[in-house]
Amino acid sequence: MKEQILEKLKNVKYPNFEKDIVSFGFVKEIKVENNEAFINIEIASSNPEISNEIRKNVNEVLSSLNLKNIEINIITPKIPEEKSNSRSGKNIVPQVKNFIMISSGKGGVGKSTTTVNLAISMAKMGKKVGILDADIYGPNIPRMLGETKTQPEVVGQRLKPILTHGVYMMSMGVLIEEGQGLMWRGAMIMKAMEQLLADVIWPELDVLFLDMPPGTGDAQITSAQSIPITAGVCVSTPQTVSLDDSKRALDMFNKLHIPIAGIVENMSGFLCPDNGKEYDIFGKGTTEEMAKAYKSEVLAQIPIEMIVREGGDDGKPVSFYHPESVSSKRYLMAAEKIWNFIEKINNEGGADNSAIQPIMNGKSACSH
Ligand SMILES: Nc1ncnc2c1ncn2[C@@H]1O[C@H](COP(=O)(O)OP(=O)(O)OP(=O)(O)O)[C@@H](O)[C@H]1O
Ligand SMILES: [Mg+2]
Repeated sequence: MKEQILEKLKNVKYPNFEKDIVSFGFVKEIKVENNEAFINIEIASSNPEISNEIRKNVNEVLSSLNLKNIEINIITPKIPEEKSNSRSGKNIVPQVKNFIMISSGKGGVGKSTTTVNLAISMAKMGKKVGILDADIYGPNIPRMLGETKTQPEVVGQRLKPILTHGVYMMSMGVLIEEGQGLMWRGAMIMKAMEQLLADVIWPELDVLFLDMPPGTGDAQITSAQSIPITAGVCVSTPQTVSLDDSKRALDMFNKLHIPIAGIVENMSGFLCPDNGKEYDIFGKGTTEEMAKAYKSEVLAQIPIEMIVREGGDDGKPVSFYHPESVSSKRYLMAAEKIWNFIEKINNEGGADNSAIQPIMNGKSACSH
């Protein structure tokens, strides 16, 4: 009977994850006496909603076994109250000193590419750096770092981030089956974001980069509620339509009281590998005016380069494998500017996103 129960429990997914509670190693004990089952489960989260959902699902999958009684004991570790280093007092990962949010109003403009290369550049500057892939619907960071086949190690009830190319990384992409689409509601995104922050054993980090999904929705707001975002970086391509969307991202930073470190103008001209000449495809230099309007600056103009795209597809980031390339040099320059901005913000007392109100019913203040 014990084996039957264990088999059934493999159908209980850990809420917001694709993996089940047995594979995660959360089922600690199963006892059966006189057709009564006692089940001990230890989970990472102390969120009662998570344990309630697990309890409900366990009862459901075991109902066909006709047990007289099922006693489910869900233990959650007591997390000691940690002192927060943020002025607003709400950093759920206090060992991370600074958080940089990479956002854009528009999809496909190069947020993930920018995140990966800025993070690697900053690690090269000697900082301890992490990447949290906050794109829960379409996590691309594992592919861009060549880690699609890597499974994170489970320690106790938490997950160890993957150390790759000198940066620590965690993504839904390494927790779900490849190619599986996800349909998430606002409330689920909030929980997933919180888990990616708190249920991952992030080491002490100087900077954690958050690669956001396109738009200005739940993931952005949840992050801003759970951690003090030190600064935001907007990624934009030079076309007018992209600029319009980028303004929305910049407005969101302002609404969330996130200081704007600057804009990365991506796909800014095409660098032809044959003759080394630069061609204006989407235009160039158009983000300057927008940066000024938001009292910010353009951190770098990254041209369209074959090695940037190939690096993303093959998991060989340009900043790691081609440090001599134009793009890599510009990413490094942008990373240095961002670090200086971080120091400036901290010298002024740190970011204060404390004005953000909790979201009700998963509805966000900024989504369109
Ligand atoms: N400077 C560049 N040169 C060449 N290719 C690039 C450049 N920047 C991004 N790309 C390519 O463009 C595509 C989209 O980039 P990326 O995935 O980083 O965008 P994104 O904004 O994160 O997209 P999404 O909104 O879907 O998350 C990728 O194939 C990437 O390799
Ligand atoms: Mg992306």
